Amino acid sequence: MYKRLDRNDICWCGSGKKYKSCHAAFDDKIIGFEHQGILVPSRKLLKTEKDIEGIKKSAVINMAVLDEVGDKIRAGMSTQEIDDIVNDVTSKMGGIPADLGYQGFPKSVCTSINEEVCHGIPSEDIILKEGDIINVDCSTILDGYFSDSSRMFCIGEVSPEKKRLVDVTRECMEAGIKAVIPWTQIGDMGHAVHQHALDNGYTVVKEIGGHGCGNEFHEEPYVSHVSKPGTGMLMVPGMVFTIEPMVNMGTDEIFIDEENDWTVYTADLKPSAQWEVEVLVTETGCEILCH
Ligand code: MF3
Ligand code: CO
Repeated sequence: MYKRLDRNDICWCGSGKKYKSCHAAFDDKIIGFEHQGILVPSRKLLKTEKDIEGIKKSAVINMAVLDEVGDKIRAGMSTQEIDDIVNDVTSKMGGIPADLGYQGFPKSVCTSINEEVCHGIPSEDIILKEGDIINVDCSTILDGYFSDSSRMFCIGEVSPEKKRLVDVTRECMEAGIKAVIPWTQIGDMGHAVHQHALDNGYTVVKEIGGHGCGNEFHEEPYVSHVSKPGTGMLMVPGMVFTIEPMVNMGTDEIFIDEENDWTVYTADLKPSAQWEVEVLVTETGCEILCH
């Protein structure tokens, strides 16, 4: 249950102001939605100004890493070289790659090529070739704050089919960004993502989605990109989460590599694409913190 403070208490948000002249009305609005039976965020999911500054600084590193990867990526390069770039740029800028050692993940970034949906593990033995599409999913920790984003890269000339998948997947993410409207539900957002994929003849992975992010790598809520309108957590200003749809050319079914227990593939081995942004819900929509 979302609880009010006493009106003369100091507000929970860190402003130093009295509750009644700070977040009292805001909290009443949240409680109103809760009374309608809608799932609302706990207070710890609502970022303070200090949290947001911290996440933004972390994101500066994450975006610089992906920019550098974008400058260097080419056919003939191993995915280990991408991991090396991530380590170099992140450490030079004072950050820590969040992926490294996360639940035992062995590398500093996820590199997922063609039919790999996500969680591909960089290796000296995996060489990029002309016509590949690759997702590079990077996450950074700076001063305890987490940033998380991923981008697709086309290696040389790719087939028109793959190019369209990459472009439409980006549009799916953008449809999600547009659908981040405060005081509506996150299921509305996920539905907008899914609908755009369906309209283009694609499917969206159900089992893996976005997540709250910032003070921890993965926070509540789970962000589905296959959801029904009028479901899921209320989107409240101050929440930070990722939008990161995995869009498949064929079936939405997936399986996990039995040897490494990480890499996710499409069941039909047709290509998959993914883009990821980290957004802050604002009073009017959202602000992209990391892309
Ligand atoms: N960066 C991924 C995400 O978007 C998580 C990768 S976890 C790892 O949530 F362990 F595989 F690196
Ligand atoms: Co993420």
